[in-house]
Amino acid sequence: MAERKEKFYLTTPIYYTNGLPHIGHTYTTVVADMIRRYKRMRGYEVVMTTGTDEHGVNVERAAKKAGIPESEYVAKMAETWRALWDELGIAADEFVRTTDLQHVRTVQWLFKLCRENGYVYKGHYTGLYCIFDNAFVNEPKPGNLCPDCDRPLETVTEENYFFKLSAFQKPLLDFYKKNPDFIQPEARRNEIIAFVEGGLRDLSITRTTVRWGIPVPGEEPHVFYVWFDALSAYLSAVGGPDFAKRGMWPADLHLVGKDIIRFHTVYWPAFLMAAMLPLPKQVWSHGWFLMDAAKMSKSKGNVVLPRPIVNMLGMDALRYFLLREVVFGQDGNFSYDALVTRYNSDLANGLGNLASRTAALIEKNFGGKIPKPGTYKPQDDALAKETQAAIGEVLERYEKMEFARALEAIWAVIALADKYLTSEQPWALGNSPEEQGRKGTILWTTSELLRIVTVLAHPVLPQSTEKIWTLLGQSGSVAAVPLDGLRWGQLSPGTQLGKAQTLFPRVDKNEAIERIEAMANEELNPAPAPTPAATPAHTPAAAGPGAAAAPAGIAQIGIDDFTKVEMRVGQVKTAERIVGADKLLKLTVDIGTEIRQICAGIAQFYEPDALVGRKVVVVANLAPRKLRGVESNGMIVAASVGPEGRPVLAGFLEDVEIGSRLK
Ligand code: MSP
Repeated sequence: MAERKEKFYLTTPIYYTNGLPHIGHTYTTVVADMIRRYKRMRGYEVVMTTGTDEHGVNVERAAKKAGIPESEYVAKMAETWRALWDELGIAADEFVRTTDLQHVRTVQWLFKLCRENGYVYKGHYTGLYCIFDNAFVNEPKPGNLCPDCDRPLETVTEENYFFKLSAFQKPLLDFYKKNPDFIQPEARRNEIIAFVEGGLRDLSITRTTVRWGIPVPGEEPHVFYVWFDALSAYLSAVGGPDFAKRGMWPADLHLVGKDIIRFHTVYWPAFLMAAMLPLPKQVWSHGWFLMDAAKMSKSKGNVVLPRPIVNMLGMDALRYFLLREVVFGQDGNFSYDALVTRYNSDLANGLGNLASRTAALIEKNFGGKIPKPGTYKPQDDALAKETQAAIGEVLERYEKMEFARALEAIWAVIALADKYLTSEQPWALGNSPEEQGRKGTILWTTSELLRIVTVLAHPVLPQSTEKIWTLLGQSGSVAAVPLDGLRWGQLSPGTQLGKAQTLFPRVDKNEAIERIEAMANEELNPAPAPTPAATPAHTPAAAGPGAAAAPAGIAQIGIDDFTKVEMRVGQVKTAERIVGADKLLKLTVDIGTEIRQICAGIAQFYEPDALVGRKVVVVANLAPRKLRGVESNGMIVAASVGPEGRPVLAGFLEDVEIGSRLK
């Protein structure tokens, strides 16, 4: 019988369904997907899970607001999350929903085990509770605000089942000591140890104030506390009560953001100890991607969405940026500028250029067949040696979760190849047998380096490395290449190159950013779908007597819709250009009741100074949005003239009072 491969089970957190995925969630999931691919290439049988956390008050509220039952609401949201991961090429092996029957059974079973073992009792609890984070808060901020999200706390008293967390202080500390790698990175481990050393209070694990949750069997109206419910998803994903059959539990790696490390390294192992189940091997906490030094949130209007970036630059570009830009474990700033700069320098000019340049030279000089190397010069041997050494270094970095440094090491090899080509100049060599032989050595060497780089970068750049693999005429999928067998010298001369591939077309930075932002604004503030009353003009209903024909393709709206738009007369107070955004001006506009900052795409047609003092029409109730990182609170109305859409500002022939409403 074939020997079973060593298993590796890793998880992302399961995401709340009352919000939409942004770049922060994408980050955790991309890292998990990258590790999944990497471990497979190292010969492991890997299972990676993600999913959705679907219970709790927030979902009750969101469903009510949407006017649909909770079950329908979460089904829609789970589909949105699943579809996004599919679209991003992230194929988790299991997608857990906490409303799945298997999961419900698992939570109830885990509770039963904890209770049978004497770690559950009934009591009362009164406390300040944050309904947004689903947690009682021990140390509120002044004004009874949540220390995490700054929102008002509510006082809640209820009969609860309690979990004897206090009994696990010593067992947990012993466990951390025996398993020094359990909590990563080191700084987080120290924080958690200090927290547990400070003493643990028992934890209420059921609620009677919440309706939308997993019922505690025979104890209704008790439902499980969201974290008892959510953490169990890691077990239900791989078999729940029957976990032994699948052979994946315990998890080898839980990937989490730093905000939820305590739940994973204190509560979760304590629940498992109480149930006498095996504990996960490691919890790795990463930092946050920040926007303007603040955590992203829709209410702050600073979320970055993955889809527009992927539409503009491709999935691999986003993955590369997320993994290359920050040290795994630390916070990092997200900026479109840095994203596009890295794309152009590292992907378009770096890897993409090396691949297409090498293929073009082989095409031209060797009819598209990888040449046979002739004799080697010291510089060829040096390159071979450095590339071979990089294999070991990159694998070590991946293994230590130092993804940015792994990529740095790969790109150092790409830079060596560029330097090598520039100094060896194969294009300047002639056709004598000797020069042709030299060309063969140079191009074989470059192709071999490219092959190795392609294999090493595959976990991070799954799509483009497959394309380079095909370009190099290699058979099968690069994903199937065992990393442990990767060596310099395995590239066979005579291999016919595959078809040329578009890898990373260079982009104009300003234009790319503007397009990404426009797509993001569209996704965050979608244009409302035409209402049924707005029948297109060409249908008989609208063309009947009294129906004013709207231009074809533009839906009619009722007066109620029109009055929703608040347009006011404003006066420009200041106007300036925005560095790096050719088309935008940043204006401050007095609209009578306040001074607003508004960005307008008119910079190519209006001089800032000429605008100061001018009266304009402002759409005052447009949701705020960011353009090139600058907040815009409203919109200036302009005609769009000619095929290029030249903006011409709307104005008045008579003097009008600032703040007057347009009707
Ligand atoms: N549902 C819980 C997790 C339960 S796991 C048993 C939850 N969900 S969440 O949707 O709010 O967050 C999920 C993950 O996304 C967390 O690990 C969190 O740290 C991460 N991120 C959310 N915003 C982030 C950034 N801006 N940057 C990086 N990751 C952040 O918590």
